[in-house]
Amino acid sequence: MKQDKNEYKQNKLSYDLKEQSLISPFDSTIPLYSPKIRLGILASGNGSNFEYIVKSIKNKQLNADISILIVNNPNCLAIKKAIKYKIPFVIINHRECSSRFEHDMLVMKKLEELSVELVVMAGWMRIVGEEIINGFKNRLINIHPSLLPSFKGVDAIQQAIDKRVTITGCTVHYVQKEVDSGSIIIQAAVPIKEQDSKETLKKRIQDMEHIILPLAISKVAKNIRTSLKDNK
Ligand code: GAR
Repeated sequence: MKQDKNEYKQNKLSYDLKEQSLISPFDSTIPLYSPKIRLGILASGNGSNFEYIVKSIKNKQLNADISILIVNNPNCLAIKKAIKYKIPFVIINHRECSSRFEHDMLVMKKLEELSVELVVMAGWMRIVGEEIINGFKNRLINIHPSLLPSFKGVDAIQQAIDKRVTITGCTVHYVQKEVDSGSIIIQAAVPIKEQDSKETLKKRIQDMEHIILPLAISKVAKNIRTSLKDNK
């Protein structure tokens, strides 16, 4: 059957769009560096991002060792994953600390004790203070479930639904004092479908998080290794 010219164009366009990556910036090669980077992971929840970091290391997509998983909540599921993959973990319960500062200091002490080079907040539901931010300048990153600078703070996925945006996503960024405001390392866009519930949307956002977080870690690790060489 002969195809209408316009129809062909339209099909071609949608085909091209499908081929476009929704991740930006997107490099077809994973940044390489050595030796392995020593990671400290901070988590408060299910730990799916933590698990994908572990899987990326096992798959040799990420040249890293996890020195420690630190959780602030004794009931968080990330602990079960640490046990499953035999990753050392410690619970530093903020409810047992008299102040945010005291909690931050305990976290900081643990990270320094283990000579952690890069700290990844992977579902860490606490604001960190200046001591940690300055102590790990350019070495502290966070993943957030929106296309920053839109929808900072709590329940970013619900915020996007409430605002009726049609595209949201996830962002990995450096951590600075103002919440969810540091320089962006990598983002992935996720369209919101009409039939989406919060749960279905969250699932698609997290699928992208699991891809971009290991990529962002590689990028930052490469910068750390390069700047160390430059300073020698
Ligand atoms: C992730 O979706 C992450 O973006 C979000 O918490 C979830 C943790 O999931 N973080 C924030 O909202 C931080 N403001 P996980 O425990 O399964 O990795």
